[in-house]
Amino acid sequence: MDIETRLAPLSDAFVANAIRNAVAINESCLDGYTAEFKYSHSRNGFYPKSGNTEWTTGFWTGQLWLCYSLTGDERFRRAALVQVDSFLERIEKKIDVEHHDMGFLYSPSCVAAYKHTGSETGRKAALLAADNLISRFHEKGQFIQAWGSLENRNEYRLIVDCLLNLPLLYWASGTTGDGKYSDIAGRHFNTALSCVLRPDGSTYHTYYFDPQTGAPLRGVTAQGNRDGSPWARGQAWAVYGSALGYSKTGSSLALSVFHKTLDFFLSHLPDDIIPYWDFDFTNPSTEPRDSSALAIVICGMMEAGDAIGGEEGRKLHELALRLLARLYEECAVKDASISNGLLLHGTYARKSEYNTCRNRGVDECNIWGDYYYLEALARVKGKWEAYW
Ligand code: GLY
Repeated sequence: MDIETRLAPLSDAFVANAIRNAVAINESCLDGYTAEFKYSHSRNGFYPKSGNTEWTTGFWTGQLWLCYSLTGDERFRRAALVQVDSFLERIEKKIDVEHHDMGFLYSPSCVAAYKHTGSETGRKAALLAADNLISRFHEKGQFIQAWGSLENRNEYRLIVDCLLNLPLLYWASGTTGDGKYSDIAGRHFNTALSCVLRPDGSTYHTYYFDPQTGAPLRGVTAQGNRDGSPWARGQAWAVYGSALGYSKTGSSLALSVFHKTLDFFLSHLPDDIIPYWDFDFTNPSTEPRDSSALAIVICGMMEAGDAIGGEEGRKLHELALRLLARLYEECAVKDASISNGLLLHGTYARKSEYNTCRNRGVDECNIWGDYYYLEALARVKGKWEAYW
């Protein structure tokens, strides 16, 4: 059956409820999570506190900006600006920034701060982060190295997630007038899409290159079930990343990758629509879900829908809204006594026979799932300031 006919439309009352719940939960977190951040994932439904480390803290600051945008409540703005200071300190002192996740960290926190308030601290921090990101570009292979030291030959690879780090570079070129950032973004984008996409529209998580020649070598998973499997969140990064690539550059390659990766994602959803953590699994299965993958894809569909426009864009939007309604029904936190996150049933990492992960945040909220769910709601209300 066509996916659209399996999904109910999204009503205005539903959106109002979803936003009311989400804002109330985040408001109740302001006292505990302003000087500190929410950790990457919840434990038994509740987020431990964390300093500004890991790749995930920007998603909490980003939620504060989204709440500010949705409500105009100054308390969210003030809390977000406290955290922007912490992001400047982090990049100036180079605390846990030897990796590519500058966009995940600095777009929803510091670019957002600059867009909402003209914060020069936010602009400065985001530009330093963009400089850090382009310093990881390898001419040999034409890609941005994902993790670790640039001298480490065992880390000579890109990962699909990086597509979401590239908008920081497009923003940096826009705000400075210096094309070096967008030039590197474009080159990485073309390399990544030429190697991670498989013929069936699924994607490799990571891809290795030969450090001597720059030749593409092989696709390998880090967080998926196995090397050749479609890790659900990696697929979601490919969908939203190619949508952003298309909206930033108008590239026909980006548009075609968007359609292929989205078709794969939608056609592999289980009956109740909430994806398992890897598309190796389908119903019936006792494997955990990753609700965050669906939240990411919904935002990607909205981004592409706006960029494509016309009847095709409208249809993408309509389907995204129906998916959002299902995501709310199945996964949104409606009772703050069970969780201080927004979206249940996420999976950060799942150990399998073939990968090197340990179980982490399995069937919990994760901070990016909460963030993209709220971004989708802000988009529905026309309150989206394009942090990416
Ligand atoms: N970008 C890391 C992850 O999706 O887990």
